[in-house]
Amino acid sequence: MSAHISASVYTSHVPAIGVALDLGKTDEPYWRPLFAGYEDSKSWFAEHTPDVIVLVYNDHATAFSLEIIPTFAIGTAAHFDVADEGWGPRPVPGVVGHPELAGHIAHSVIQQDFDLTIVNQMDVDHGLTVPLSLMCGRPSAWPCPVIPIAVNVVHYPIPSGRRCLDLGAAIRRAVESYDEDLDVQIWGTGGMSHQLQGPRAGLINSEFDRAFLDELIADPAELAQKPHVDYMREAGSEGVELVMWLIARGAMADLAGGPAPTVRHRFYHVPASNTAVGHLIMEN
Ligand code: DHB
Ligand code: FE
Repeated sequence: MSAHISASVYTSHVPAIGVALDLGKTDEPYWRPLFAGYEDSKSWFAEHTPDVIVLVYNDHATAFSLEIIPTFAIGTAAHFDVADEGWGPRPVPGVVGHPELAGHIAHSVIQQDFDLTIVNQMDVDHGLTVPLSLMCGRPSAWPCPVIPIAVNVVHYPIPSGRRCLDLGAAIRRAVESYDEDLDVQIWGTGGMSHQLQGPRAGLINSEFDRAFLDELIADPAELAQKPHVDYMREAGSEGVELVMWLIARGAMADLAGGPAPTVRHRFYHVPASNTAVGHLIMEN
């Protein structure tokens, strides 16, 4: 028996969503439609809780700074503390890792010529905890171990969509060569359109976002060819976080000649803070 990837989950990671959850504001008129879009997802996740989540996200100059900028980093620790991003750590559980599978993925993926940075200690910021909160609500402990994969999408140069898709395929091969019957989900997070800085701050492009969701489902190989400048121009400077979704998509069976995934849930909502929120669940 070996491990397998059963599903991929995609979601934005807006920090204000975490604040709304932590302060019990989810029923306020501004937030209600957003959280309503995750109700079915929470039920699905409760029924399909995996043994491990490989959670692809970006650190926002929290664990890493300009001193060291890993393009792709894998968290191999047994535990990750919740980061203090300036207002104290979010009141959510610490994240339990899976050092054995993470070590195996690092070994396998590096041998497949992807140079992952191995991180034995790091705090995790809203990029990782907000997606967990959206899918799990407010549990006293997260329901399964999480392997963080941190991607640099904050400081240039950042990895191409093509490289992200290929990394996903490499992670899939790594998981499938792990000698234990584990149900693994891979999550791609960040995005959708948003720009937090400069004259275009507040930019939202729903047309771009919806087309991205369509193409992520139907033709990820073509989507992976999209250059960064297109994301930046169309979806804003922080919209380029979306390239991370291609890592999760690349780990789905169809990229390795299997059947197309089943889309279990699709949701799109504007606004949440400065950001358009997109969300997909795909099953293999
Ligand atoms: C916002 C969105 C982000 O992706 C982020 O990392 C920080 C802030 C926002 O919309 O406020
Ligand atoms: Fe972000």
